[in-house]
Amino acid sequence: MRAIRCHELTGPAGLRVDEIDDPTAGPGQVIIDVRAAGVNFPDVLITSGKYQFKPALPFIPGGEVAGVVREVGEGVTGIAVGDRVASTMLFGGFAERVSCPAAAVFPLPDEIAFDVGAAILVAYATTLHALVDRARLREGETLLVLGAAGGVGLAAIELGKCLGARVIAAASSEAKLERCRSRGADDTIDYSREDLRGRAKVLAPAGFDVVYDPVGGDHTEAAIRSLGWEGRLLVVGFASGTIPKIPTNLLLLKNCQVMGVFWGAFAMREPARNREHIERLLQWIVEGRVRPHIDAALPLERAGEALERLARREVRGKLVLVP
Ligand SMILES: NC(=O)c1ccc[n+]([C@@H]2O[C@H](COP(=O)([O-])OP(=O)(O)OC[C@H]3O[C@@H](n4cnc5c(N)ncnc54)[C@H](OP(=O)(O)O)[C@@H]3O)[C@@H](O)[C@H]2O)c1
Repeated sequence: MRAIRCHELTGPAGLRVDEIDDPTAGPGQVIIDVRAAGVNFPDVLITSGKYQFKPALPFIPGGEVAGVVREVGEGVTGIAVGDRVASTMLFGGFAERVSCPAAAVFPLPDEIAFDVGAAILVAYATTLHALVDRARLREGETLLVLGAAGGVGLAAIELGKCLGARVIAAASSEAKLERCRSRGADDTIDYSREDLRGRAKVLAPAGFDVVYDPVGGDHTEAAIRSLGWEGRLLVVGFASGTIPKIPTNLLLLKNCQVMGVFWGAFAMREPARNREHIERLLQWIVEGRVRPHIDAALPLERAGEALERLARREVRGKLVLVP
């Protein structure tokens, strides 16, 4: 089969298209014929040696796919050859075929296209876990989303609206904010030209109840200063490349909390709860309440270009690769 393999930890430059043996299904494993592979920021990090997990070289990047079951291993129940499915993995998705543990494979309803199926598990399941289990976002609360036109950012807008929040989207250009409004954002902040704190005072004079932060850097402290009484800041990622340091007196003054979000570890520790979230999410997509935005579907060979576009902040919503 054809696969994109990372031979050096130099980002896109270290990727090659290789012809390698097909995977075979061991006990408890499922082989999926990949119809689309989602591209996520952790793929940029893992191919640059900057992710918390460092696979041995050469490895196939790619953390989520949608496709058709080709083979099931011994002991697998409830999944059959020919089923439409979606799955996540630490790496291995940028290939024509991938082997996944059955526990990480989810049925994909016929109404959901493969490109959408490959773009939802990481971004939307992370976000549902963050908003529901961590921040306990309530109907009528105000949610600020940073990096709001990116993969997890757009997911936070749509899921925030499904959960009944007022959503304020912050991003770095008018074109990105237009995409945020199309997905339900009630108000916007262009933090490339507007002062985040000043604009926040106008949009939410009593402060935000929840901030969703996949960006880090300088915006994080401004966002914490914009929280209201008993506000919660969700630490989702550091796409800016900078892990911020937070003066803890800011937390004391407003009885507020900073909470970490690590969806991959949550999914392993609490598989039943994660499955509940994913079933709820798939239902919302089938009903048209959530409409994941696919920025582009590129051929598998263009994986390097996809990672470059993500690193250059050019992507709105999600990119997928098609083998
Ligand atoms: N905690 C978890 O379980 C979990 C799960 C999935 C992803 N994540 C993390 O969430 C973050 C976002 O992931 P994603 O897939 O949504 O990425 P993405 O689609 O690339 O979105 C990231 C956004 O961050 C902003 N940004 C600011 N500075 C940037 C820079 N120097 N380079 C790139 N983007 C920059 C961009 O928006 P503007 O241009 O508008 O600022 C961009 O739209 C990543 O750090 C990822 O590792 C965490």
